[in-house]
Amino acid sequence: MSDRARQFLEDQEILLSNDKLREIRDRLRAAMQAGLARDGQTVRMIPAYVPPCRGDAEREVIALDAGGTNVRAALVRLRPGQEPEVVDVHKAALPGANGDAVDRETFFDRLAELVDQLPWQGRPIGFVFSYPTRILPDRDGILLRWTKEVRASGVEGTRVGEGLADALERRDGTRPTNITVLNDTVAALAAASTRVSGTGGAIGLIVGTGTNMAYFEQAEAITKLGEGADGPAQQAINMESGNFDGVPRTSYDAALDEACGDPGHQAMEKMVSGRYLGEVARRVVRGAVGKGVLSGDVGRAVSEPWSLLAADLSALVETPARLQGVLTAVPEAEVATLREVVGAVVTRSARVVAAGLAAVLDHLGLAAAPVAIVAEGTLFWQMPGYGAIVETTLDTLAPPLGSDPRFLVLHIDDANLVGAAVAAVS
Ligand code: GLC
Repeated sequence: MSDRARQFLEDQEILLSNDKLREIRDRLRAAMQAGLARDGQTVRMIPAYVPPCRGDAEREVIALDAGGTNVRAALVRLRPGQEPEVVDVHKAALPGANGDAVDRETFFDRLAELVDQLPWQGRPIGFVFSYPTRILPDRDGILLRWTKEVRASGVEGTRVGEGLADALERRDGTRPTNITVLNDTVAALAAASTRVSGTGGAIGLIVGTGTNMAYFEQAEAITKLGEGADGPAQQAINMESGNFDGVPRTSYDAALDEACGDPGHQAMEKMVSGRYLGEVARRVVRGAVGKGVLSGDVGRAVSEPWSLLAADLSALVETPARLQGVLTAVPEAEVATLREVVGAVVTRSARVVAAGLAAVLDHLGLAAAPVAIVAEGTLFWQMPGYGAIVETTLDTLAPPLGSDPRFLVLHIDDANLVGAAVAAVS
């Protein structure tokens, strides 16, 4: 890296040392304990009421995946001893995302429209709803608050499974009776049960539009549920780790937070995930222009807020670099330095993700090793080099035990859809 770029990134505290990452890991571990003990904590640690699944049912299930940017609905065939088959996938933009604003009825009508293209009558529905949602014992869930800049009024505080059932009944005259609402991180965990068995633990990790983790917890450790509470011996915990606030923030992060629809929330997510990463990078690049590390031509190319997208960053950090979106206006002579500055923002994201995983690995303890990390999300799998940075950093923060690895990273095709189906029949 050029000396000027390095000096700038060091002065602005974009580079995080391994010692800083260890501090972040330890803070997150403490926040996990607080969330298991009490409601209303920064890291919510939401019980999902999904036990480790056996994944050996023979059923056809409808899976609906409402994520950060898109919604997908599919029919999933589960057969004992065989790979789940995802057939007939229908996709649309997520209502209320991408600058659009909708009301509750429109939101669920659009989801129902997608589901109604499939033979859902008489089949269980696994509804992946990737927002902080309190899960109820009847498997419905109440949205606590929107994240990822979604704007759909009247949904917060209401039951989302019921919202979908009402909308399907409005369309079709029939009401679905079996809807399981689950987080995408929990779906990733459930999908893992089709691949791994045995005593090792598992973590569901999402690094896409948003970021979050889930893992299986022992009932007695979830002390906020009280003694003798109903529920399985082990159940998935949706951490909602995107709201963790223990990562040191730069002035760029603080300014971005103010420009968001929900200032003061999702501090870690805003430093890490795809919905925000382009804008973080844009602000840091503007800072580099201010310090003379990049020229005014680069500054002008990225003058418009939210104009730089995570996909543009991916193209730039590829080898050889490609320029797309607003970056096509960047002069050739400055591409190398721009790539260093943007690369540092991407690297910070991946290293923070590793610190988060290290906290969960430490929490699970050595007996759970090797832990299967089911990773899902466009940033993790499509940003060049991203997964490799997460893995090497995690190796440093949670070193192998002799020759035994502490973790292994798994990719499962259509993890959300498969996991939704598995959880719906477990
Ligand atoms: C946001 C949501 C969380 C979800 C994550 C990844 O952090 O609040 O529920 O799991 O994005 O999609």
